[in-house]
Amino acid sequence: MSNKIGIIGFGNIAKAIITPLLNDSILKTEEVYCLVKSNKSLDLIKNSYPHKINIFLANSSDAKMVWDSPIKLLSVKPQQLNEVDEFNIKKEQENYMVSILAGVSLRRLEEKFPNHKCVRAVTNIPILIGEGLTGISWGAKINEDKKNFIKSIFKTSSKIYELPEEYLDIFLALTSSSPAIIALIIDSLSDGGLSGGLNKKLSEELVIEMILGTVLLLKKSNMGIIELRNMVTSPEGTTISALNTLEKSCFRSALIDAIMAARNRSKEFQ
Ligand SMILES: NC(=O)c1ccc[n+]([C@@H]2O[C@H](COP(=O)([O-])OP(=O)(O)OC[C@H]3O[C@@H](n4cnc5c(N)ncnc54)[C@H](OP(=O)(O)O)[C@@H]3O)[C@@H](O)[C@H]2O)c1
Repeated sequence: MSNKIGIIGFGNIAKAIITPLLNDSILKTEEVYCLVKSNKSLDLIKNSYPHKINIFLANSSDAKMVWDSPIKLLSVKPQQLNEVDEFNIKKEQENYMVSILAGVSLRRLEEKFPNHKCVRAVTNIPILIGEGLTGISWGAKINEDKKNFIKSIFKTSSKIYELPEEYLDIFLALTSSSPAIIALIIDSLSDGGLSGGLNKKLSEELVIEMILGTVLLLKKSNMGIIELRNMVTSPEGTTISALNTLEKSCFRSALIDAIMAARNRSKEFQ
């Protein structure tokens, strides 16, 4: 990779995407041009971010150096999109806007950035440890070379799935919102441990190790999900008592409804 990249909004997720590329020298510091909104973030990044990237305030004249980049990663919050406008675009080059904003459609991006070819990417928080999932939907007229470059931005930190845009909202609900659901499940199960007399720290540790082991078993053994469930659910046993209690509380439909609520919220941003 040798292209300059502009990053509009160098917050948590942009850092999680870009830092491993800098750590592995896939990107050089002098190729990374970033914008933030506040002096506070600017100072924090200048003083404590481990790589000496180029970073400027969005409303400064230096911002043009970021907008100069042929490829930009748009990583502000969806609610901040209205404050971002094309600025000093080099029309003689092809410009690409890769948005990671939840829910914001390609059509809206193309209207907002008429001098850019637009791409939507949905990624999730395990990118922080290189275990993320990224869904990508391509806008019109993007050639294979550019697609490969854009995929390489996410490849170090995540597995990539190329999807038609109509599936990105459900992809987001399942992969980007669900880590919060898993965190809630871990917290709730460990409260169960607490109720049974274990301390919270040990309960959390047991739950996390149990989830990790269960997931690895499913991944490594080819065992089906129902097969695993049946294997640990014996007649009149402890597990069926637990599962019955969850059925009475509509646990499964609550999870299905939660995923659909996240998908519908994502659609509202469009
Ligand atoms: N959280 C997740 O799990 C997750 C997962 C996948 C994708 N996403 C998406 O990732 C995006 C960023 O989320 P985040 O958690 O990284 O947010 P964040 O940490 O708040 O980062 C937002 C960044 O945008 C900057 N910014 C704000 N207004 C700007 C403007 N007008 N011009 C240039 N920069 C501006 C902010 O600067 P200041 O700090 O100075 O305000 C900050 O650096 C969101 O759109 C979200 O939908 C989030």
